[in-house]
Parts: sequence; C-alpha cells; structure tokens
Amino acid sequence: MKEKDNVLDGNKVMGDEFESNIRPQRLDDYIGQTDVKENIRVFVEAAKMRDESLDHVLLYGPPGLGKTTLSHIIANELGVNIKTASGPSIEKSGDLAAVLSTLEPGDVLFIDEIHRMPRAVEEILYPAMEDFQLDIIIGTEGSTKSIKINLPPFTLVGATTRSGDLSSPLRDRFGIVCKLNYYTDEELSTIVKRTSKIVGIPIEDEAALELAKRSRKTPRIANRLYKRVRDFALVGGYERIDLKITKSSLERLKVDNYGLDAIDIEYLSSLIQKFNGGPVGLETIATSIGEEVTTIEDVVEPFLLQEGFIKRTRSGRIATEKSYRHLGINHSYTIFDTQEEE
Ligand SMILES: Nc1ncnc2c1ncn2[C@@H]1O[C@H](COP(=O)(O)OP(=O)(O)OP(=O)(O)O)[C@@H](O)[C@H]1O
Ligand SMILES: [Mg+2]
Repeated sequence: MKEKDNVLDGNKVMGDEFESNIRPQRLDDYIGQTDVKENIRVFVEAAKMRDESLDHVLLYGPPGLGKTTLSHIIANELGVNIKTASGPSIEKSGDLAAVLSTLEPGDVLFIDEIHRMPRAVEEILYPAMEDFQLDIIIGTEGSTKSIKINLPPFTLVGATTRSGDLSSPLRDRFGIVCKLNYYTDEELSTIVKRTSKIVGIPIEDEAALELAKRSRKTPRIANRLYKRVRDFALVGGYERIDLKITKSSLERLKVDNYGLDAIDIEYLSSLIQKFNGGPVGLETIATSIGEEVTTIEDVVEPFLLQEGFIKRTRSGRIATEKSYRHLGINHSYTIFDTQEEE
C-alpha cells in the first residue's frame, strides 16, 4: 500500500497538540450542525433537571466532522467524566467489563468506531445499556456460573462512520441518534477564523472562505489546510494570511478548486480511463489505484458522491459528467447506466 498524502486525508493524526488546542469544549463553540446541537442541548438540560443520566447517544457520519469532539462536549455539558475506548481495542468481554467497572454515576463512556466491536462483546453491552447490569460468566467449562453486577447509571456515546454496519439490536438501544452532515463553506470559514484566533496568526475573510471551499466540507481538513498555509505565510514573512498566499499555498499543496486531492483525482481518472467511466465494482477500482477498500468507501467516495462526481448504481460506480468536465475529458463515447442503487 502506498503512503497517503495526509493533508486532505479525513483520518486523524494521533498525539496532535494543535488539534487538542483548537477542539471546541462547549456546545456554544461547536460550529454548525445546528439541529443536532440544539437537540443535544435540550436532552442534556432535561437529564440534568431530572438528575438522571443522559440517554445513550449514537453519533454517525463521515470522518472528521466532529463526532469525537461532540462526545467530549456532551460530557463537559453534563459536568461528568468521560472514559474512552474504541471498538477494535475491546477484544474480549472482559475488556469491556473492565472499562464499565470504572464508571461513576452519570459518566460518559465513549466508544469510537463502535461498529468494529466484536459481536460477543456487544452482547455484554445490551444489559449494561438497558438495565445498567453486567452479566458475566465465570469459571471454566463444566462449572460455569453467571453473575450479575450492578453498574451505576451511565451514558454510552457511540461513534461510527458506518451506521449501516451496526447490528440492529445495538442501534435500537440508543435513545438519541444523531447524523452529522457535511459543513457549509460559511461554517468552515467560521471554524478556520476561530482556529486562527486561538493559534494567533490572523486570516482575512476572503482567505478563510477560499480555504473553506477547498476543505471537502470537513472541519478537520479545513484546520489542517489552515495549518499548512500558516507555514507558508510564516516562512514568506506574512503577518496575516491573505487570499494571495492562501491560493499559492493551496496550489503547492495540490489541492484543486473543489478540494479534490491526488487520491480523488486518481480514483476519477482510473474510473474514466481504465474502466470507461464505469460501472465498476468497489474492489476493482480500489485495487486499480492501490488503496484499501475501506479508505475508498469511508473517506474518498462519500465526498465524491455528495458533490456529484460519481454515482453508485446497482452494477457499480459510474463517473458523472461533472467528473469528465473536471478532468477535461470528453465523454461522448460512453454509454451510461444511470439506474440508481436501491
Ligand atoms: N463543529 C465544529 N466546530 C469547530 N471545530 C470542529 C467542529 N467539528 C470538528 N471540529 C474540528 O475538527 C477536528 C476533527 O473533529 P473530530 O476529531 O471530532 O472528528 P470525528 O468525527 O471524530 O472524526 P473520526 O471519524 O475520524 O473519528 C477537531 O479536532 C475539531 O478541532
Ligand atoms: Mg473521532
């Protein structure tokens, strides 16, 4: 597998101090996602008024839209501790039991990538979510017994980029389900300006908007591009980031007008040139450009679909006219299968 250029990669970079400084802590600092935000505000307030734990919350949406951020905000607004775990790291039911047993009344347990939790572990979670009870089986074969341990009331906040991969019994146990959407250019521009205030290198309005437009509608990418442009500005002796330095930096970073990066372009060129515009299956196209299927499905395609560069049909992915235009390729010879996927 080749290395990905991570400037436009929706994935997180661990141990990034910059990220932790600019991450909003309260609902009021969380920009956009108005419906989700206002609903959560009400549910948190109501839970506090009743002096009960908040119902379990499921947050889903593409990478970098603010799921982890929102889970920490929920704990802050509730005034409780947050314990974090991730689906793949909870291998055995004992791992989950260990995390659950550290919870104090009202705490938030955040499980990232909850769709990757093993099914056997998931089953331990059902009674824990429903009745705040842990059913564990102890002993060895032949002489096992099941014991019940009472847990304090807690709030499970689950995050996933793939709500479709969640089993329905698990999904049904979340009382609050929130879908995070892609951000508008104006919202992203506000996020970039907020970041610039915290970091201390001012950015002009039109420059912030330009960055926003090329950020794949994703706050993590907007902040990451800001960070890179800030480097160019610093080295170039600029005291503030203006449109000129923004545009030239983005050009050097090879981020195009739509915010498409090298992988997007490779995906589209392959779809058009090797497969005559499709339809072509996900695995075939992933292999042809040497990327993982999950990267293509979770990171690359959602944005291309959202922006109308590709369509998913029953027989595979197809490139739309917009892609041909964007790459400057004439598509008059292609026969389209425009039947949408069900
Ligand atoms: N609504 C928002 N307002 C301001 N900044 C935001 C907002 N949402 C996200 N961010 C910024 O974007 C960064 C990425 O967000 P976050 O890590 O919460 O995304 P995520 O949805 O958990 O991604 P992943 O699916 O990869 O785990 C955060 O560090 C934060 O600075
Ligand atoms: Mg996250």
